[in-house]
Amino acid sequence: MKDSERAKKLAAETAAQMIPDHSMVGLGTGSTLEYAIKELGRRIRDEDLKISAVTTSFQGQLLANENSIVTLNSMNVPNLNIAIDGADEVDPNGNLIKGLGAALTKEKIVAAMPQRYIIVIDETKKVTQLGEKTPVQVEVVPDALALVECFLKKLGVKPRVRPDQSKAGPVVTDLGNLIVDVEFGIVNNAESLEQQINNIPGVVSNGLFLGIVDEVIVGSVEDGQARVERRTFKKKTFKI
Ligand code: 5RP
Repeated sequence: MKDSERAKKLAAETAAQMIPDHSMVGLGTGSTLEYAIKELGRRIRDEDLKISAVTTSFQGQLLANENSIVTLNSMNVPNLNIAIDGADEVDPNGNLIKGLGAALTKEKIVAAMPQRYIIVIDETKKVTQLGEKTPVQVEVVPDALALVECFLKKLGVKPRVRPDQSKAGPVVTDLGNLIVDVEFGIVNNAESLEQQINNIPGVVSNGLFLGIVDEVIVGSVEDGQARVERRTFKKKTFKI
């Protein structure tokens, strides 16, 4: 296994081992979360845990069910004990860019539900400032695409509708929306940008996740040795 995969696996399994019995858990989306879901499934079987979960994508739901995890529809769930997700960028204050897996809206809903929201990454996701490596993803209702593009251009950027890799046409999210990737470069005033994007009619949500994280677990491999670093943050938004 490559070092980057070992790092992701260790971070994800560390988080999955922190889930207490009788919890309602949020499970995010992506290759890092796959390791967490598999480890949680293993614990449920080996330790006979009573756990139920809300997932943030079809990918997560199928994998959770294959791994003995009972899933609930988030429509009926207002809050959770704990949630785990991956991220595309994490800054030193625990702010995130998420959404390269096109699951950002469901991920933001689930991020707002738990008492503890934990992010698991390998160290390539650490940045000094948001926007260093990743565009900001915007989930858009199809009917509003041209309007949203027009407003985004007024912010001085070039929006790009994300093409699907395996069919002709754009990526369609699990909620039936489109993803617009926007290269802002370094994001200097993230709170204000998040608000500006969200205020455009037809925008469902965007990939800036600010002040919402309780803990980041970073996996890395040094001299062949995998290790984790854990950093806690004071949640500023969506406190339950
Ligand atoms: C999906 C996400 C993922 O959490 C993010 O893209 C990280 O994925 P990976 O663990 O595969 O690098 O935000 O919308």
